[in-house]
This record gives sequence, structure tokens and C-alpha cells, in this order.
Amino acid sequence: VAPTGIGEVLLDWYDYNARILPWRSEPTPYHVWISEIMLQQTRVEAVKKYYDRWMEVLPDVKALSEVPDEELMKLWEGLGYYNRARNLKVAALQVMQEFDGEIPADYSKLLSLKGVGEYTAGAIASIAFGIPEPAVDGNALRIFSRILAEDGEINKASVKKKTSQEVRRVLPKERPGDFNQALMDLGSSICIPNGEPFCENCPWESICQAHKYGRETDFPVKAKK
Ligand code: ADE
Repeated sequence: VAPTGIGEVLLDWYDYNARILPWRSEPTPYHVWISEIMLQQTRVEAVKKYYDRWMEVLPDVKALSEVPDEELMKLWEGLGYYNRARNLKVAALQVMQEFDGEIPADYSKLLSLKGVGEYTAGAIASIAFGIPEPAVDGNALRIFSRILAEDGEINKASVKKKTSQEVRRVLPKERPGDFNQALMDLGSSICIPNGEPFCENCPWESICQAHKYGRETDFPVKAKK
């Protein structure tokens, strides 16, 4: 298990190193939702301009629920995986009909929205509502597999479950959204997926089991093809 107290250490790092991103300036439920769906299969740099244009045309759930399909597809054109956009509109109609136009501040209700899975529900709950839920993406999985020297395959449900439990345990209750996003930033700048990570700059260097044994690149364990 990871030492308690590492959540606060990561937040101190995040206070100086957080990326400035369009969806972070005003993290409303709608902003977080749309950005997280866009970011699912598309890089941050590419998402920025799509996100800004989307918010100009569709500033809220109601506008999204009423958008003609051709216009929706034009806004999404180039992002790929067009079902993401179609699901967004279906979910917006759900929010209008089932939740009176308000994105619900509840993890299970968020999960009931079309296109919203565990990761996205956790991201919206924590970032927009301050609810202490993990948002375990590839970054969180990789970082925790290294700090714990997790020898189970990274794609196994058991590893994901364990990571989720560990994140929940160290997640600072008063800043869950910042903690989840700090993991994303740590994963993109320091505990990177390809090549040697930049451990000398990592706030978790001293508690990382993989680093302790010089085995950073042995984790996460991938299934052999
Ligand atoms: N990737 C997915 N969600 C993100 C977020 N909120 N900030 C930065 N990168 C992300």
C-alpha cells in the first residue's frame, strides 16, 4: 500500500506545476464533462481549439440538447470516434428530461448518462463537484503501478480495482479534483509512458518502489503479445 500523506505531497507539487488548460479556468460540470469526453481519445493539444469553439456554439446543456445533428458533427469533425459526440447529445437530452437540466452531483447518476463510464463519472464528480471519487485513467494506473511495483498485468480488472482503492485512500478529501488532475499532469510530464521517467523531478521519488530498485521501466507490466 502507498504511504498516507502522499496525496498532500502531490497537491503541493501541483500548486506549482499544474498545466493551464481552457477547461480548468472555470470547472463547471458542463465544462468538465465535455472536456473529459473530448480528451478520452484525443491529445490535450488537439482538444484545446475544439473545446473553445464548442463552448462558443454550445455553451450549456440545453444548447447541446437542441443542436441539429449536422452542426454537432461539424463541431466534432477531426476529433474522430463520432459516437462520442452522438452520446453527448443523447446524454444532454437525458439531463434535460431526467435531471431538470442540471448535471447531477452524484457519482451513480453521472454513470447513468450515455457515454459516461467510471473514469468520466469520477472526473466530473471530483473536478466539478468536489466529491472524493477516484478518476483512474492510464496515467493513474501507470503511476500507481510504479509507486507500488505492482506486478499484476495493467489491463487486469483486479489491478484497476486495486489502483482505484489506493487512489481513494490517499485522495485528499478537500481537493479531490486537483488530486486527480495532478496525476494526469505527473503522468504527462514526469512519470511518462514511453522512455525513462524524470524521477529526479518527481514529488513521489522517495516513496516509489519501482524507483527504489531502479526498475521504473519494468512497470506497468503489460500482457505479452
Ligand atoms: N486528460 C483527461 N482529462 C484531463 C484533464 N482534466 N486535464 C488534463 N489532461 C486530461
